[in-house]
Amino acid sequence: MKIILMGPPGSGKGTQASFMASITEVNSVSSGDLFRDNLSRDTELGRMAKTYMDRGKYVPDDVTIGMVMSWIEAPENKKGFVLDGFPRTLLQAESLDDRLGAIGGIDKVILFNVPEPELIKRLAGRILCRKCQTPYHKVFSPPIKQGFCDMCDGELFQRQDDSEAVVRERLSVYTEETSPVIQRYKELGNLIEIDGSLSIEEVEQSLREALE
Ligand code: AP5
Ligand code: MG
Repeated sequence: MKIILMGPPGSGKGTQASFMASITEVNSVSSGDLFRDNLSRDTELGRMAKTYMDRGKYVPDDVTIGMVMSWIEAPENKKGFVLDGFPRTLLQAESLDDRLGAIGGIDKVILFNVPEPELIKRLAGRILCRKCQTPYHKVFSPPIKQGFCDMCDGELFQRQDDSEAVVRERLSVYTEETSPVIQRYKELGNLIEIDGSLSIEEVEQSLREALE
């Protein structure tokens, strides 16, 4: 299975990626998590990406494509994957198609639709694990032990780019740069739209149905 999860900031891609990966028995990756991992290790790539992420802009295509392609090509990801937040531009989508040609194309592209006021509420209350990047929400999906991750006991923190001003910019960049990618998958006939405003459990159920 090769699956793409698409949707605006806060639509639940990260929340559902590990669920999707577990039911399809493949690994998942978030391009945003890869950038944040580089940043926490203070790599050149991480420092460069931060200059874009802090302003809510997309990181340039050449860097992003190279980073995600190396992940896809790792031996443990050859049997399939769930991509969270990649591709987001037409060039990224075309590069992915070129690279996958030899091993078959994408099976499903899932788009989470969530109204903007709900996205803002979700991002304002989001906390995530510094170690494994699992997302939580102070109200909608709190951890069992306040301040610590249920999965690995890592410390929870708030993302710098979740301030309201940066969130607004991220939403506008998404509309401008990612709408053509959505349109492309619609025309290719492999886009499945899901109501991402439902509860986490209801969205999981819709995903199960989408896979059948
Ligand atoms: P990235 O980290 O991918 O950010 P994003 O796309 O803006 O998406 P988010 O991670 O904010 O939201 P999500 O959909 O994962 O929601 P989540 O599950 O956490 O990218 C960050 C930056 O990196 C970009 O701005 C860009 O600079 C760069 N970048 C990344 N990929 C790139 C690319 N391909 N090209 C160029 N640049 C790139 O959920 C949000 C909150 O809601 C959580 O608190 C969660 O608990 C809660 N929640 C989730 N589902 C529900 C539900 N059903 N009901 C109630 N609450 C819910
Ligand atoms: Mg995410």
